Amino acid sequence: MIKKYINPIFPHLLHGGDYNPDQWQDRPDILAEDMRLMRLANCNAMSVGIFAWAALEPKEGRFDFTFLDKAIDDIYKAGGRVVLATPSGARPAWLSMKYPEVLRTNADGSRNTHGMRHNHCYTSPIYRKKVFEINRRIAERYKDHPALLVWHISNEYGGRCYCENCKAAFRNWLKEKYGTLDALNKDWWTAFWAHTYTDWSQIDPPMDHGERYTNGLDLDWRRFVTYQTTDFMKEEIRAVKEITPNVPVTTNMMGFYNGLDYRVLARELDVIANDIYPKWRGTKEDIDTAIDTAFTHDLCRTMRHQPFMLMECTPSHVNWHEYNKLKRPGAHELSALQTIAHGGDTVQYFQFRKSRGAGEQFHGAVVDHEGSENTRVFKEVAALGARMKQLDAVVGTKTVARVAILHDWSNQWALDAAQGFQNKNKRLRATQLQFYKAFWQRGINVDVICPEDDLTAYDLVIAPMLYSVSNAQGQKLAAYVAKGGTLVCTYGTAMVDETTLAHLGGWPGAGLRKVFGIWNEELDTLYPDDFNTVTGDIGEYKTIDYCELIHAEGAEVLATYESDFYAGRPAATVNTYGKGKAYYIAFRDTGDFTDAMMEDLIHELGITSDFDGELPHGVTAHSRTDGESVFVFLQNFNSHAVTVPTAKQWATAEGGISVSGTIPLKPYETVILKKQNIF
Ligand code: GAL
Repeated sequence: MIKKYINPIFPHLLHGGDYNPDQWQDRPDILAEDMRLMRLANCNAMSVGIFAWAALEPKEGRFDFTFLDKAIDDIYKAGGRVVLATPSGARPAWLSMKYPEVLRTNADGSRNTHGMRHNHCYTSPIYRKKVFEINRRIAERYKDHPALLVWHISNEYGGRCYCENCKAAFRNWLKEKYGTLDALNKDWWTAFWAHTYTDWSQIDPPMDHGERYTNGLDLDWRRFVTYQTTDFMKEEIRAVKEITPNVPVTTNMMGFYNGLDYRVLARELDVIANDIYPKWRGTKEDIDTAIDTAFTHDLCRTMRHQPFMLMECTPSHVNWHEYNKLKRPGAHELSALQTIAHGGDTVQYFQFRKSRGAGEQFHGAVVDHEGSENTRVFKEVAALGARMKQLDAVVGTKTVARVAILHDWSNQWALDAAQGFQNKNKRLRATQLQFYKAFWQRGINVDVICPEDDLTAYDLVIAPMLYSVSNAQGQKLAAYVAKGGTLVCTYGTAMVDETTLAHLGGWPGAGLRKVFGIWNEELDTLYPDDFNTVTGDIGEYKTIDYCELIHAEGAEVLATYESDFYAGRPAATVNTYGKGKAYYIAFRDTGDFTDAMMEDLIHELGITSDFDGELPHGVTAHSRTDGESVFVFLQNFNSHAVTVPTAKQWATAEGGISVSGTIPLKPYETVILKKQNIF
C-alpha cells in the first residue's frame, strides 16, 4: 500500500498553526521569542500570510515582503516549514475604496462597506485580477524557498453575493445548463403561481423579499454559488500552480458547512483541509461531540480518500461560541489524536500567538498574552507535539472502511427547500449521526461518501433521508445491490429527482421501488409529543417525528406499527434484489432501533473493528494501515478511567511496549497500538 503524504518532502505529522507576524512588526523581540516558543512547543509548521494583504501591498502596486521574508526564513531556521496562504480572505482598504465592485452585495441590494473579511464578490473581474496578481507575486517570491510546504488558498470560502455581475453570471450558468427557457421552466415547474420566465433577465436569485418557493431555482442558485466560488478558487490556484507545480494546494473548509458543495471544491485540491471547533465540555455530552467530530473527520478523509489536514482547531477555547469553555486538561490531546485516528496528518491551531487587540484577542492560542511557555495550554501543546514526533510511521497511511454513509450537499439543499414534513427541523445530520454512532461505539471505520463515489468498495452503504435521487443515481444504487451490496435507506427516500420534481409512479422513485420491494404511499409527520411503537423480532421501539405508510411489494416485513390507523402496516423491511439486500426503515426512532439493526447487520456481514476487545461506553478504536501494520487509536472520551480487554498481543506505536490482556485508559487518554503483518 503506497503512503500518501501531504508533501513527500516532509513526511511527518504537521503541528503548528496560524501565525501572524504582520501584527507584531514593531516587536522584533516578540518575533524572536516566537521562534524559541515554536521549537519548545514542538511545532513544525506555521501558516502565514492568511490576512496579510495590507502588509504585503500597503499601496496599490507597492509591494513589501520584508516581514514575510524574515518570518519564513526564521521559521525554516528554527526547523519549521510553512503553510503559505494567499491573502484573498481580507482586502486592504485601498482596494475597496478604489474598486467598490469588489464589495459584496447583499440579497436586499445593499452593498457592504469596507470591513470585516470573507466578503468579497467572487465574480468581480477586478477582484479576481488583483488576487491573481498578489498570489503570483507571492509564488514568484517564495517558489524556491525550502520552507514552502503547502499552499493555503484564501481562508474559509463562503457566502454569496447578489450584485449585477453575479446575477449575470448566474443567468449565463443557467443558459449553459438548460439551453432553453422552456427546459428551465419545465424543470423548475414554474407554471405554479404564474412564475413562468419568458426572458433570462427575469431570473433573480432566491431571496427573502423575492422568490422563495421555486425549489429548483433554490437548488440551482446554491449549485451556482459553489460553481462560482470554485471558479474563483481555480484562478487563485492557477496563479500559484503555474509557478510552483509541485507544491500541493488546499483551502480550509468548515466540515459540513451548508453553503458550498465541498465535493466540487475538493476536485481542484491536492489535499483537503478542515477547521473544526467542537464544544468540548468536560461532561458526558463529550461523547456525542466526539461522534459528531469523528463524522466530520471521516468526511474530510473520504473527500479525496487520503490523509487530510486539520488546518485549524483551538488548543483551549474559542471566543465566538455562546459560552467559551476551556478544554479540560487532556481534552486537547484527545481531540488532536482523534483527528489522526480518523486519517488526519496535521494538527494546526488558530492561533499560535494571541493577537493583542481587535476581534480575536481573547481566542485561545498556543502562546498567551502572558508570553511564556509556562501556561497549562502551552505545556499541553508541547506534550502533544512531542507525542506526534513519535508517530512518523502513521503519516500517509490509509483508512480502510467497509461501511459508508452517504452525504450529498444537493440532497441536503433539496430537503432544506422542501415545504412539508417538519419544516424547520428535518434533522438530516442528526439522522446520519444516529447511524454513524452505531459504528463509532463499536470501533468500526466508516467512510462518508457522495453519490459519485465508487460504491463497490463497501459491503454496507447507508443513505439516510436520501430525498433527492436522480434516475442515474437510482440506477447506480440498484446496480450496487444487484451485485451483492447491502443498502439501507430511510423515510423520505427518492421523493424528488435532481431538479426537485417529485418522482411520479410511487415512492421511492428513480427505480428504487423495485429495489426495496415497497411502495411508500404516505408520510405522517408527528407532533413533538406524538409517538407510535414498532415491533418485530428485533424488539419493540418508539417512533418519533416520521412514520411512513408503506406497502410491502415483495419485501419481507421486519417490524410493524402498533397503533393508530396504520397499526399492523410495515415499518421496516428488507428485500432481496439480485445478489444483495435493500433495507427500508419507514420511521424515525430515538436511536435504539437504529443501533439494534446496525448490530444485526454488522454480524450478518461480518464487519469487524481492527480492535478485538469489547469497548466500554465512551471508548472507541479507529485504525489506519500501511498495508503491513495496523495502527489502532484506542481513545477514552470519558472523564473517568476505564479498562479495555483484548485477546490479542499488541505493541504500543510509541516505544514498542508489548500490551495484552487488559488495557487501562486514564480519563481522556489515547493509547496507540500497533500490530504487524496483518495481511
Ligand atoms: C476560523 C477562521 C480563523 C479564526 C477562527 C477563530 O473560522 O478561519 O481565521 O477566525 O475561526 O475560531
